[in-house]
Order: sequence, then structure tokens, then C-alpha cells
Amino acid sequence: MLKIGFLASGRGSNFQAIVDTINEGAIKAEPALLVADKADAYAIQRAQKLGIEHMYLDPGAYKSKDEYYEAITSEMKARGVGLVVLAGFMRIVRKPLLEAFPMKVMNIHPALLPSFAGLHGHGDALAYGVKVSGCTVHFVDEGMDTGPVIIQAAAPVYDDDTEETLSERILKLEHRIFPEAVRLFADGRLEVHGRRVRVKGNRSPEDYIINPTVQQ
Ligand code: GRF
Repeated sequence: MLKIGFLASGRGSNFQAIVDTINEGAIKAEPALLVADKADAYAIQRAQKLGIEHMYLDPGAYKSKDEYYEAITSEMKARGVGLVVLAGFMRIVRKPLLEAFPMKVMNIHPALLPSFAGLHGHGDALAYGVKVSGCTVHFVDEGMDTGPVIIQAAAPVYDDDTEETLSERILKLEHRIFPEAVRLFADGRLEVHGRRVRVKGNRSPEDYIINPTVQQ
């Protein structure tokens, strides 16, 4: 069975949503390890409650960024991890991990990529004045939020939205599409062709783009 390793920096609600979906039996995988880059990440407490092995690895304790990712890679490999999930991990992942897990590292970004990549997806979308934003699950490459897109979901942006109200609306969608992307991976249904990720088996376009105006 697929073993999943998680990297997190904070709250860990996406980590929780994925593990809950696994525990419901909807994803054929086992959560093997959670690594946090912050000692006080709430995700660590969630892992504790869920009975999932967890550890804090301090980036400052390594000579270089590459060494930090080598350490993470060896913890993941030691547990037979086959998919690494970035669940609110606020760092750019570097080569040692990406080379060990090619197209096997997934991230979620709270905007419709390639728009508003980077750390301030919600604020940048509001400042730009878009009427639709959303979230994107993608495979991770060496860039910042630039890897092949797996699933996107769209959310409306209202005139009176703040970063808080918009992020709340988008987070609900994150908790739907991230477990769904992991499920497809676990079932061996994701095929990467260059930038395009194809889902094997019969699916309708609605399965790729979740539109909350018709589905919520
Ligand atoms: C989410 O908005 C995610 O899109 C972004 O960081 C946030 C993490 O939330 N990458 P959580 O830690 O999963 O609750």
C-alpha cells in the first residue's frame, strides 16, 4: 500500500482532511510520517492525536538547504514513502527531495495557477480584482508553484471579501480537491505528459474543475 509522507509548517488542516479521507477508507494509502519545519506547528498536535509518527526538523540545524532536504528525504525513504504531500509547507522544496521523488511531491496553492503564485495568493488575487479565484493541486518542480496541474477548483470573489473571507471559502475547496488528487495518485490514475496531467479512466470535465457555484 502507498505510504504518504507529509511536510507542514502550520495549522495542518489539509493534512487532517487527507488523513480523515484515508481513515474513511476512501484513499488506499497509509500516512507514514509528518515532518514539520516549525516546532510549534499545530500539524504536529494533529499528528499526535491521529497516532501518526511526526518529527520537527529544524532547517537552521543544517549547513545548507540541500542538506536539510537530504535529511527529509532519508526520513521519508526510511519509511518507504511513495508520495510526499506538502500540506501548508511554506518553503521552496529543493533538488535532493525532488530528485528522490520525481512527480511524487504534491502541493496545494490557494489560487488558480499560474495566477498569483507565491506566498500571498489570496491577497494578490484581491488586489488584482479578479472575480474568480480558487485553488490548485499540482506536482512540485523546482520553481515556485510552477509544476504540472492536477486538479483546480474555482471560487467566486465578492466585492466585500477580505483575505480572511476569501481564504475560508477557498479552504473548503482545498479540503475537497487535495484528498481527491491523492486518491487518484494512490489508484495509479495520474499520468504526467510534460506539463499535462491526465487522469486515467472515465471522467467528466466536472471532475477536474469543481465549480462551487453549481456544486455547493
Ligand atoms: C493553505 O491555504 C494552502 O493552500 C497553503 O497554505 C495553507 C495551509 O493550510 N499552501 P493548512 O496548514 O493545510 O491548514
